Amino acid sequence: MMPSTESATYHTRITIFLHWFMALAILGMLTLGWGFDYLPKGEVKLGLIGAHKSIGIVILFLGIARLARRIAHHARSLPAIQCLWGRRIASTTHILLYVAVIGLPLSGWMMVSASPRNIPTVLFDILPWPNLPILPTLENRGQITRYLLTAHWWMSIVLAALIAGHAMAALRHHFISRDDTLLRMMPRLGGKRPANHA
Ligand code: HEM
Repeated sequence: MMPSTESATYHTRITIFLHWFMALAILGMLTLGWGFDYLPKGEVKLGLIGAHKSIGIVILFLGIARLARRIAHHARSLPAIQCLWGRRIASTTHILLYVAVIGLPLSGWMMVSASPRNIPTVLFDILPWPNLPILPTLENRGQITRYLLTAHWWMSIVLAALIAGHAMAALRHHFISRDDTLLRMMPRLGGKRPANHA
């Protein structure tokens, strides 16, 4: 049986959970990453970099899973009142968000794989995590690691800008267009039509 148009508009609980879990994890990771420069070298910094790598790898695979899910299930429809340009900007931002959410942790994994310091990655101090192939065998590993750190930093700026734009668009939907774009992504409302949004 075909799903009704109305129910197809709402996100599943798993989509809502993944959305907010990843949003919080990414904001924490950006704060942590930008804070590294201000931390003195030592055990605490090493421990935090270990946590950063572990959470980053989880974000990488959750990002890939979300992308696969979105491709498999098609994107939920945007509100009908949105103009053509609004729709284009929204879908471009969503594509760029996927690129950044996958590309940023991937660049971190590439960086630690290329690093001549050969610091092993052990996820949450439990699961030894492999380096990516080829990178550990390259010459000029120090130079490559520096390029990758620069790429990692720039991607963090791009991701932060995309998240800010995405959040402002959601608030605009809620307070100016007064549609249910934000409410349908809120926890507890999963699958149910908010009463005050006809
Ligand atoms: C969404 C995920 C991630 C975010 C938002 C993020 C963000 C950042 C930011 C903002 C920095 C500071 C860059 C700079 O100051 O130049 C950083 C540094 C770093 N990141 Fe990530 N990162 C993520 C994932 C990863 C992953 C998956 C790894 C490795 C497996 C990783 C390894 C590192 C390392 C080694 C540093 C440098 C730490 C230092 O020595 O100062 N990151 N990250």
